[in-house]
Amino acid sequence: MATYRSKPYRSRPLWDDENATDAKLPVYFRPGEPWNDIDGKPIQAHGGGVLLHDGVYYWYGEDKSGPTYKRFSLADDSAARVDVIGVRCYSSTDLSNWRDEGLVLKAVPNHADLAPSMVLERPKVICNDRLRTFVMWMHIDDADYKLARAGVAVSAAATGPFKFLRSFRPNGRQSRDLTVFKDDDATAYLFYSSEGNKDMHIARLTPDYTDVQPQHVKILIGRSREAPAVFKQNNLYFMLTSGCTGWEPNQAEVHWASDMFGQWNLVGHPCVGGTEMDAAETFQSQGSFVLPLPGWPGRFIFMGDQWDPDNLAESRYVWLPLWVVPVQNSSDGIAGAVVRERQDIMLVGKEGPGRHPGSSMMPADVVVRWHDLWRFSDFDRVPKSRWESGRFYHM
Ligand code: DGJ
Repeated sequence: MATYRSKPYRSRPLWDDENATDAKLPVYFRPGEPWNDIDGKPIQAHGGGVLLHDGVYYWYGEDKSGPTYKRFSLADDSAARVDVIGVRCYSSTDLSNWRDEGLVLKAVPNHADLAPSMVLERPKVICNDRLRTFVMWMHIDDADYKLARAGVAVSAAATGPFKFLRSFRPNGRQSRDLTVFKDDDATAYLFYSSEGNKDMHIARLTPDYTDVQPQHVKILIGRSREAPAVFKQNNLYFMLTSGCTGWEPNQAEVHWASDMFGQWNLVGHPCVGGTEMDAAETFQSQGSFVLPLPGWPGRFIFMGDQWDPDNLAESRYVWLPLWVVPVQNSSDGIAGAVVRERQDIMLVGKEGPGRHPGSSMMPADVVVRWHDLWRFSDFDRVPKSRWESGRFYHM
């Protein structure tokens, strides 16, 4: 079992050194195609996220390899489910060839939170460097999604086993789709869809990352966004979300903020390339994570799930290059485009709605570009911002 290591695996970023993979296999990504681990078994890491720790990437996600069936109480596709099996972890040094590290958190029969009949979705893991712990947050629910709770588990090793601590509603609020984001100063935040999925909430985590602190904000009020994925570039925060359409794809949106608890402004929908219809529906996927490529500013990997509600186990992964492209000018087009959105922010637990200071002038654009097949060198074809090109869509 891998333990907390202090020595990095490799000193050169893998995208500088594509042919020198440890597995000696080519580093290509084929979005939407079947993706097997290095033993040839289909990867089961849906709704997942990736942690880079000591030069090794760990991909955590839902193992949905059981049979798909429908809840009696609900007739449409969103009622499709797979009983909880657990959270599976894979490790890789090149992001393409993944080794199965097994189930790091397993379903437990008759457990109040982890029983197979429950829902365990969107696991995300961050490392607490000070305490040398790995902390997993996940959405815990009953089969009708009425509990709306966040679950927390901890482990001494990236590859588990994780000990489940509890599930709860952060600061008493509903929590469904969620993610955690660890900032450069090691402060971590929980982002969660709340209030019947109408609003997004952000709460700061306690120093041990296993609880939330009382002060938190509601953002994107009434916009019904879920599947948050948060990333940072040049001291700006970005959040990619989906709409709420069950397992069906919809249009991704990106927001940005200069202050985590400040104003979050619309950037727009980031997808370009492929067919117009596919781009408008996030290439038939729903985002789950945006992975930074360290030492390569402005380059990220968009990770999404192409859900198959008829057979959730067969849901595919869409990994694509994502760029944060600086916007240089400050024409009316930019400011005008941004202020079209309502920008309500509310401090939870305080009197009335509060508007935080913050600029709405968009400093950067975010682009996810479709490729049938791609490799790291494709990042060199940097897209232009939709604003600088003087048009309302990406070039
Ligand atoms: C959308 C969520 O993002 C998924 O994680 C899952 O809960 C589905 N809804 C269920 O319909």
